[in-house]
Amino acid sequence: MTHLVWTADLDTGIGEIDRQHRRLVAYINTLYELRASPDRQALSRVIADTAEYTESHFAFEEGLLEQAGYEFAGPHKKVHELFIRRIVSIQQRFESGEDVAEELHQVLSRWLFSHIRNEDHVYVETVKKYLQNTRAAQRASNAARGGDARTDYESIIPEIEQRISKKGWLARLFSR
Ligand SMILES: [Fe+2]
Repeated sequence: MTHLVWTADLDTGIGEIDRQHRRLVAYINTLYELRASPDRQALSRVIADTAEYTESHFAFEEGLLEQAGYEFAGPHKKVHELFIRRIVSIQQRFESGEDVAEELHQVLSRWLFSHIRNEDHVYVETVKKYLQNTRAAQRASNAARGGDARTDYESIIPEIEQRISKKGWLARLFSR
């Protein structure tokens, strides 16, 4: 397993989700580059950043799925939770001195692409429909108020935010 390379079949066509998935890939590739580094502090940081970003992305995705009324939102969340538990336990082994960077890189690489191709692709239609409806409603209300067009997610984020207990996820995801 080397660098992850994005392929077109991984795109969901949901802009924000694709952006976050690509950023996850960038984190995993950074981990790949540093996996054999003697600098454990740098490695510790990239592992923590990758885990945090993954959790934040999951929070966003879960919120969006619930918001869209996706029928398998619950099971999808469960899959995320199990995966996070796996990542956290590898991270703990790293912090207690084990040499697990290579293993973590493999687990992340294999899981992410398979999850996107299989589980994530199943929600695409429902979420797209939801976003189309929300955006249509948003455009109509903007036009009625004569205001500027708002960004795609601005009206949804406060509602997603209410569903998410994790702190700091929003800044982490939307800082460029
Ligand atoms: Fe997912």
